[in-house]
Amino acid sequence: MKLLFICLGNICRSPMAETIMRHITEKANLADKIEIDSAGLIGYHEGETSDSRMISHAKRRGYIITHISRKIRRSDFEYFDKILCMDDQNFDKLIDLSETKEETDKIERITDYCTQHVIDHVPDPYYGGAQGFENVIDILEDACSNLLNTINEDLKKEE
Ligand code: 4NP
Repeated sequence: MKLLFICLGNICRSPMAETIMRHITEKANLADKIEIDSAGLIGYHEGETSDSRMISHAKRRGYIITHISRKIRRSDFEYFDKILCMDDQNFDKLIDLSETKEETDKIERITDYCTQHVIDHVPDPYYGGAQGFENVIDILEDACSNLLNTINEDLKKEE
């Protein structure tokens, strides 16, 4: 199973999602079955490390973000099985970029996997304060945990 997390700049929300997902996947001994990456819809921060505020909030909660920002590319729609985005703006842009029904069907909102939060998007923390970054981690921990459970159930069915 190959997962691609998407946000706008690929320096806050999607690298955080990638890092949380990798962390819990390794803890569940599923690292050899689930491949994880992230990318952005804009290339503005391409080649940069993640936002220093996101990195420090993550670190305090036990996550080390090492991702280098990259823009989504055409081949991502073929390569990945699920393309998981953060908000409606991301979703609409991904739908625009997809070229076949198979590609369109891969696009999902990460918040659809939340069980503890009643929310339909992961708010962009870029122009806000510390609470915004903590909120991103809270929502993504909830969503990724259930995403892993869902994938794990599917993997078991395939065995
Ligand atoms: P992200 O946050 O999409 O969660 O990585 C943002 C980062 C940068 C910008 C916007 C959102 N930007 O406009 O540069």
